[in-house]
Amino acid sequence: MSHRFCQFSDLVENQARGFRSPVGEVVLVQRDGQVYGYQNSCPHLGINLEFNPDEFMDVENHYLLCSNHGALFRVEDGHCVAGPCQGESLLAVPLQVVNGEILLASEP
Ligand code: FES
Repeated sequence: MSHRFCQFSDLVENQARGFRSPVGEVVLVQRDGQVYGYQNSCPHLGINLEFNPDEFMDVENHYLLCSNHGALFRVEDGHCVAGPCQGESLLAVPLQVVNGEILLASEP
């Protein structure tokens, strides 16, 4: 059975939340009716993105932020647009939304 993260309705538009899962720590972020999932591991040093629980967004809630050295990542594809790992990307975590629940999708 797939791992369940939370209800889609538990997420807030342009906000992110951290979760533990069978594939490690994951950050989920919701925008425009879509949910995106990434490994909570900065491509710069391979450490967690946040200093405080669930603080993953920049001040404008536009980009995912690594609090360590300020790298900014696009919500839609995890691509780093600024910071020491510019050009690299967060690792995407495959998700499925079934009956309003966000699940870890099995790998194809
Ligand atoms: S560890 Fe994320 S920017 Fe350095």
